[in-house]
Amino acid sequence: MNENISAILYDECTIQRKISELGEQLSVDYEDKKPVMISVLKGSVVFLADLIRACTINMTVDFISLSSYGNKTESSGSVSLEKVFNTDLSDRHVIIVEDIIDTGLSLSYLLKYLDRFKPASIALCVLLDKVDARKIEVKIDYKGFEIENEFVVGYGLDYAERFRNLPYIGILKEEVYK
Ligand code: PRP
Repeated sequence: MNENISAILYDECTIQRKISELGEQLSVDYEDKKPVMISVLKGSVVFLADLIRACTINMTVDFISLSSYGNKTESSGSVSLEKVFNTDLSDRHVIIVEDIIDTGLSLSYLLKYLDRFKPASIALCVLLDKVDARKIEVKIDYKGFEIENEFVVGYGLDYAERFRNLPYIGILKEEVYK
């Protein structure tokens, strides 16, 4: 285990089992709908890469970039848009793919932003839900795990751009960021 991690929360097998379940469910719900999965950079790319391979349906993929954390462990509270997707979303079924929902500010902002492109539907697929950190309510349609209010890294999630490459999701030792 990486020396900066105090405990592994979800190992590779547990993550893959959950993603198989999510992929099966999405494949049933979106059969013949040719959804577009929009991955929110950068944290969700690892999740997206596994999730699309767990889905058996026809779909497309695109990317968007938001930022609210910088190099800190708490949201700055203001969300900004850094990269815009180029898919025409009108009448498309959109599935937003996120690694983690914390305060809910990023997803709430993104939902409002995407709505203006008149998609047929928008659903949220989130791997980790930090339930107690929520500041704004957001309806999650597909969820992996609910987690406590701890700082987690790995499987795409970072602290100051580090640890995204860990294959598991682990709790970061406080001494690394305090
Ligand atoms: C993380 C995560 C979400 C957001 C969730 O992104 O991927 O986009 O924070 O937090 P919220 O619910 O409090 O808004 P981050 O800004 O760390 O960027 P990254 O994905 O590039 O690591």
